Amino acid sequence: MAETILITGGAGFIGRYVSRALLDRGDRVIILDSLIEQVHGGKAEPDGLDPRAELIVGDVREDTVVRAALKGVDKVVHLAAEVGVGQSMYAIDRYVSVNDLGTAVLFQELIAKPVKRVVVASSMSIYGEGLYRTTDGELVEDAIRQPNGGAPWDPPDRQGRPMIPVPTPEWKRPTLASVYAITKHVQERLTLTLAPYYGMEGVALRLWNAYGPGQALSNPYTGVLAIFASRIQNGNRPIIFEDGKQRRDFVHVEDVAQAFLLALDRPQAAGQVYNIGSGVDRTVQEVADLLAAAMGRPDITPEIAGKARAGDIRHNIPDITKARTELGYEPRKDFAEGLRELAEWVAQQQAQDRVSEARRELEARGLVA
Ligand code: UD1
Repeated sequence: MAETILITGGAGFIGRYVSRALLDRGDRVIILDSLIEQVHGGKAEPDGLDPRAELIVGDVREDTVVRAALKGVDKVVHLAAEVGVGQSMYAIDRYVSVNDLGTAVLFQELIAKPVKRVVVASSMSIYGEGLYRTTDGELVEDAIRQPNGGAPWDPPDRQGRPMIPVPTPEWKRPTLASVYAITKHVQERLTLTLAPYYGMEGVALRLWNAYGPGQALSNPYTGVLAIFASRIQNGNRPIIFEDGKQRRDFVHVEDVAQAFLLALDRPQAAGQVYNIGSGVDRTVQEVADLLAAAMGRPDITPEIAGKARAGDIRHNIPDITKARTELGYEPRKDFAEGLRELAEWVAQQQAQDRVSEARRELEARGLVA
């Protein structure tokens, strides 16, 4: 049966894909989005927004705006958030305010007008370092890297030996290594703690690194693939923090959208958290090389900074078994195909490369060391 879904932050990268998928199957979509300049470049009409979606321009921290947006709504997808790990380490008040006060105001309004379900975008960053295995086969949940950055980049075991990163399951204890991670953890916990008290169901998706056409190319605090794409399109070398061997899981935004639809629908998802990734991990160096090749610029090799960005974690790769078995989630997009599509889309865009500016912001505060 068709439902009305409110998507906070729905004009953003992930929200636009979720909107389209919901609209295509006949749901009604209301978007509440403040269209922040850093993401939308000051445009009143965000690029790529499905015209069938009803857009309310407003801030999720404004109770009257949220109240109006909740009218007639069956379920909520909560995506409104500031998203940069590096930036969160100095724009602290903004990150805490938008992400956590925003979620608080949303729930404050939901008390009087509960919906069936709230699906919140959490993040793999709440785990901090992913799960590791020592050479003796022991699993380590609380790996930590050197506090002040610098090589060796990999977190050592208690004997100082290197460990092997292994897929992180949902049961791993959170270790909050950045302001961003702290705020995402609060968003997740507010949702899962409050929802049942008011007759609602909460679900949290812990997303890995989403990529795809439409990610804000001129935002130097966005995901690494969009940043690298913007660098390469402008003939500049991508800058890689550390040594480029840090591992992530890059998940195509269409697969992320699929996960949100399942999380909205599946009865057994109530009260649960799910890791959402592609199931294949890669190093940052590898994706920089593959992207340059996909963009027809294999000659542009990345510059290895040899410095770490404050708040970053070393390796984090997901175990997506729970999403597969309970939600029926199945990542479909092949990475090579995803990069080809991304490259085609980037070729039609004007990307402003603001990476040097962003780097100066971090360096001026000693947040790259
Ligand atoms: C990203 C998302 C975060 C999301 C999380 C889920 C962004 C801005 N952050 O965080 O919202 O919750 O995934 O997994 O989209 N790097 C470089 N050079 C650069 C930029 C980054 O080497 O110019 C490196 C970073 O040091 C890091 C890796 O690339 O090791 C990934 O960085 P980033 O794309 O910012 O993602 P996460 O921090 O993993």
